[in-house]
Amino acid sequence: MKAIIPAAGLGTRFLPATKCTPKEMLPVLDKPAIQYVVEEALAPEEVDEAIVVTSPSKPELVSYFQPDGSLEQLLRERGKQGYADAVRYVGELPVDFRYQYKPKGLGHAIRSCADATSGEPFCVLLGDYVVPDKSILPKMIEASRQHGGASVIAVAPCTLDEVSRYGVVAGERVGALEGCEGAGDDEPGAVWRLSGMVEKPAPEDAPSNLYIVGRYLLSPLVMELLADQEPGKGGEVQLTDAMERALEREALYAVVIDPLEGVDTGTPAGWIAANALMAAADPRFSSEFWEAVDARGGLKRGE
Ligand code: G1P
Repeated sequence: MKAIIPAAGLGTRFLPATKCTPKEMLPVLDKPAIQYVVEEALAPEEVDEAIVVTSPSKPELVSYFQPDGSLEQLLRERGKQGYADAVRYVGELPVDFRYQYKPKGLGHAIRSCADATSGEPFCVLLGDYVVPDKSILPKMIEASRQHGGASVIAVAPCTLDEVSRYGVVAGERVGALEGCEGAGDDEPGAVWRLSGMVEKPAPEDAPSNLYIVGRYLLSPLVMELLADQEPGKGGEVQLTDAMERALEREALYAVVIDPLEGVDTGTPAGWIAANALMAAADPRFSSEFWEAVDARGGLKRGE
C-alpha cells in the first residue's frame, strides 16, 4: 500500500522563515518535520512506499530524501559514524515524489498519485500533525480489518468554535477498538460508521463535534471519484467532498483518537510548543534544554 503525504503548500503562516525553506523542512528537534510523517507512514508493514506531493518550487524536499554518498563518506572519515548513519538512513527511505503544479486543493494533490496507487487502497497523512509514537495508523488499520477492509479516517472531538477549521463528520458509533469497549462515543477507541461529512462548516451546520484529524485509509473508489471532483470550499478540490460521494456506494468508518497523541506543527506557536515538549521529553536533549530554561528562572508566561 502507498502512503500519500501532501506537501505542496506555500507555508504562508511561517513566512518569512519559509521564503527559502519549505515548511516541511523546518526541524522538530534534529529532523525536519516531514521525516516524522514519512517514518509514521512507513511504520505499518502494509505500507511499502511514501509518496510526497510537492511543488516544483520546493526541490529541497526531493534532495533531502536522496542518498548523499560524499557527505556520508566525509562524516565517516571524520569519525562521525552516528551522523553518517543518519544521512544514509534518510537517503534509503522508500520515498517517491509527485508534483502539484497549481494549488488546487488537497483532493487535487492526492489525485496526482493515482498512477502510483493503481486501484489499491491507500493512506493519506497530512504533514502539519506529527505523531512521534506513530500510534494512529495501526488503530485505523485495525478498525478497517474489523469492517472488511473498509475506508477508515481518524477523527477527534473539538469545540463548536473550532469546527470551521476542519472537515466534520456525521454518523453513529458502531463499536470500538479492542480494549476500548468502555469508551464513550467521542472518546479514543470508539468506532463510527459515517453517514456524511462537510468541509469547514459554520458552527450551526456542524453535524457533530468530531473533526477529521489528517490521517486517512481510503478505498480506490475515493481516488477514482477525485478524477472529476468539482472544486468545493475555498474553490479547492476537497478530499472531504470525494469521501462524501463515496459514501453513496460504500461504507466509511472513523476511529476516534486523542488529538494529543500528536503535536500540531502547522503554526509557529504550535511548532515551537512541539519542539519544547519533545525536547523536554527526549533524553538526548532534555538535560541541556532544562538547564537553558532553568538558568533563566524557568518558563514564564509573558504579559
Ligand atoms: C484539511 C482537510 C480537513 C481536515 C484538516 C485537518 O484541511 O481538508 O478536512 O480536517 O486538513 O488538519 P486544511 O487544514 O488543509 O485546510
